[in-house]
Amino acid sequence: MEPKTIKTTPFAGQRPGTSGLRKKVRVFAQPHYLENFVQSIFDTQDALAGGSLVVGGDGRYYNREAIQTILRMAAANGVARVLVGQGGILSTPAVSCLIRKYKTQGGIVLSASHNPGGPEEDFGIKFNVASGGPAPESVTEAMFARTQTIDTYRSLDCPDTDLDQLGTVQIGTMQVEVIDPVADYAALMESLFDFGAIEALFNSGLFKLRFDAMHAVTGPYAIEILENRLGASPGTVMNGVPLPDFGGHHPDPNLAHAQELVHLCHGTDGLDFGAASDGDGDRNMILGKEFFVTPSDSLAVLAANAHLTPGYKHGIRGIARSMPTSQAADRVAEAMGIESFETPTGWKFFGNLLDAGRITLCGEESFGTGSDHVREKDGLWAVLFWLNLLAVRKQSVAEIVTEHWRHFGRNFYTRHDYEAVNAEAAAGLVNHLNVLLPALPGKRLGAYTVAYADDFAYTDPIDGSVSKHQGIRIGFEGGARIVLRLSGTGTEGATLRVYVESYEPDPTKHHQDPQDALAPLIRIARDLAQIEERTGRAEPTVIT
Ligand code: G1P
Ligand code: ZN
Repeated sequence: MEPKTIKTTPFAGQRPGTSGLRKKVRVFAQPHYLENFVQSIFDTQDALAGGSLVVGGDGRYYNREAIQTILRMAAANGVARVLVGQGGILSTPAVSCLIRKYKTQGGIVLSASHNPGGPEEDFGIKFNVASGGPAPESVTEAMFARTQTIDTYRSLDCPDTDLDQLGTVQIGTMQVEVIDPVADYAALMESLFDFGAIEALFNSGLFKLRFDAMHAVTGPYAIEILENRLGASPGTVMNGVPLPDFGGHHPDPNLAHAQELVHLCHGTDGLDFGAASDGDGDRNMILGKEFFVTPSDSLAVLAANAHLTPGYKHGIRGIARSMPTSQAADRVAEAMGIESFETPTGWKFFGNLLDAGRITLCGEESFGTGSDHVREKDGLWAVLFWLNLLAVRKQSVAEIVTEHWRHFGRNFYTRHDYEAVNAEAAAGLVNHLNVLLPALPGKRLGAYTVAYADDFAYTDPIDGSVSKHQGIRIGFEGGARIVLRLSGTGTEGATLRVYVESYEPDPTKHHQDPQDALAPLIRIARDLAQIEERTGRAEPTVIT
């Protein structure tokens, strides 16, 4: 089994986006496409030769084929040891956990997160570095540069590895360990949260819950943790079997795509707690009876209550949120006298702050919450955190959140997405706003006065690296904000995201529907950006 060198030519467009390289399956399945990208990982990550690597994915269509390709190439590139999840399954947070626990030189996750799967749908690949976090921009840029000049890749001629059989096999000189994808992750969760208290809550017979795994990767994790270890009744985990096409749905835990779960939380007889996670298990949605917790509020509530859980009982160091995430968490940080940070969109920007011990919790409005326990956002972790709080505070989800608002004020929040718009029109819209920005401060728009308006740039406080053009921020006096940016994860045209937020200190106004409370600001955003005129869209595709 001698490694062979295969000639290839570069493909355009292999630059990783917000979260790895994402393309349609048919793009990835072209001869040499996946191979070129994987070789670019090996060519730029010297420590992998002679080192170890974690490999797994969310079970979507093409997952197993890609893993076989990666194993052959890893062996040919001199990797000494690969840990691969049984059945090719590993959630994104589990990969991060394994990299850290077994001190590997990195990990490869096969996933396009919440994007649909299937032969005509999306696939993706991302590389995580030795800290367990997504590769920083310097690394992804080096990989991209390599894809532009690549002329050969290395592979082995060998039969497929049996991914379903636990145990160790040899490919050439490389050891492949097929491991239980859940065990290490479940042990980590057990070390952070009060499983006894959660078990008692479940046993009370008064608490109704469901977890929707959306036929994606968290099924096996949730069944093991919620049902087997915590004693939730069988069937608590819905859609628990990972399917290559996620049952034909978007594995995206939000009000639009997890409708069955949302429905189950309705009515006086509704669930006390509903939660869902996405394709690769890093996102979370939290619901109570007739109650939706925005991810921005969730971060703020977890931060304010962290001391009630075993893993965070000694307090938290700092909090970071992505720029478009509501400012609710900033108010908690201020009250606690700890640092808060506003970073660009994408989990990779939290890495340095976590590594440096400047923050303990971090989150994004896009259903992502996490902490320094791994270097990815973590869906089930957030669910267990909430369950721990519910068990200890003995209150409902709605009571905990409304009490939080009474104490800190409420940040009304919504995100409007205009998906698959014409890419040139979207770029034109952003240019148009950039031209307007300098004249906006001090201007009155409806009942609001602009306090600042800029094209967000971020200087990493740890390594000083600068990331420019991270979205347009228009801040108003009193804390309201409009943010506009183009998605970095879409695979079709451009997606315009409009984030709108206002701050309401008065508890008598907290019951309003966010779409009503934010209607004037939504109007201002649409007019200012000339959304309909430029994209032809009168209404967004998705509202969350
Ligand atoms: C989206 C989210 C972002 C998240 C990313 C990966 O990226 O907005 O917060 O980190 O998915 O899950 P976007 O498409 O907006 O670039
Ligand atoms: Zn995801």
